[in-house]
Amino acid sequence: MKIAITGKGGVGKTTFSAILSRIYAEEGYNVLAVDADPDPNLALALGFPEEIIKEIVPISEMKTMISERTSSTPETFGKMFKINPKVDDIPEKFCKKHNGVKLLTMGTVDKAGMGCFCPENVLLKKLTSHLILQNKDIVIMDMEAGIEHLGRGTAQGVDLFIVVIEPGIRSIKTYEHVKNLAEQLGINRVLVVANKVRNVDDEKYVLEHVGEENCLGFIHYRENVGDSDRVNHSPYDSKETVGEVKKIKEKLEKGA
Ligand SMILES: Nc1ncnc2c1ncn2[C@@H]1O[C@H](COP(=O)(O)OP(=O)(O)O)[C@@H](O)[C@H]1O
Ligand SMILES: [Mg+2]
Repeated sequence: MKIAITGKGGVGKTTFSAILSRIYAEEGYNVLAVDADPDPNLALALGFPEEIIKEIVPISEMKTMISERTSSTPETFGKMFKINPKVDDIPEKFCKKHNGVKLLTMGTVDKAGMGCFCPENVLLKKLTSHLILQNKDIVIMDMEAGIEHLGRGTAQGVDLFIVVIEPGIRSIKTYEHVKNLAEQLGINRVLVVANKVRNVDDEKYVLEHVGEENCLGFIHYRENVGDSDRVNHSPYDSKETVGEVKKIKEKLEKGA
């Protein structure tokens, strides 16, 4: 199962990715959580201890490894390098493990997503494609808002795109944008999780705007989920929220 989680900044992608990863791990699955956001913070949400977080180096910043794999040197930079680097051993070698979840932090090179044809980007793209198309783990990818950079073949290997929204028009616009992009790539497995829901009116608002058939479920706004960001423990510690994500998981398994 390969799940890609996207949505507007701040809606709760990382929170949801972390809880879902922990639930699968608890059930005994091999889970690879991939932090593909340029501003990575999935480790914190997964409840990784400070000592491990300090050690994390995003793949995109592993200069020596990247130059070895792509046969590029600063002198050949921009000229010749391998466009098909070996990546299959990278997940095991460079992930960090805690609470049964393996975490791979990708980092970023080219914020625009498409433009840069450089060794770092080539390796990241090949690695992403490997994770989705060949890796045997459950892969949960916490992404930025958009799927443009995935590439057609990789995107088609994703079993389910989940767009996290909150009850407001801006994050719903992001959902519509992602859905359109996905359609252009020939993908229609794009579903919504509504987070930070406060009451029945919020639920109605979401269902009216995205359609009931597209909504996997609701996660309510809870102070202790927001707090976990500060006091350095995982949103997985909020039992009610975990319960809601479990329900969403059951629904997505039926659909996917
Ligand atoms: N259900 C919720 N209730 C309260 N606060 C939440 C909830 N979900 C997320 N948050 C808080 O909102 C902020 C953004 O969440 P985050 O998961 O980092 O979003 P994203 O990854 O989409 O940018 C964080 O401070 C997080 O703790
Ligand atoms: Mg995030």
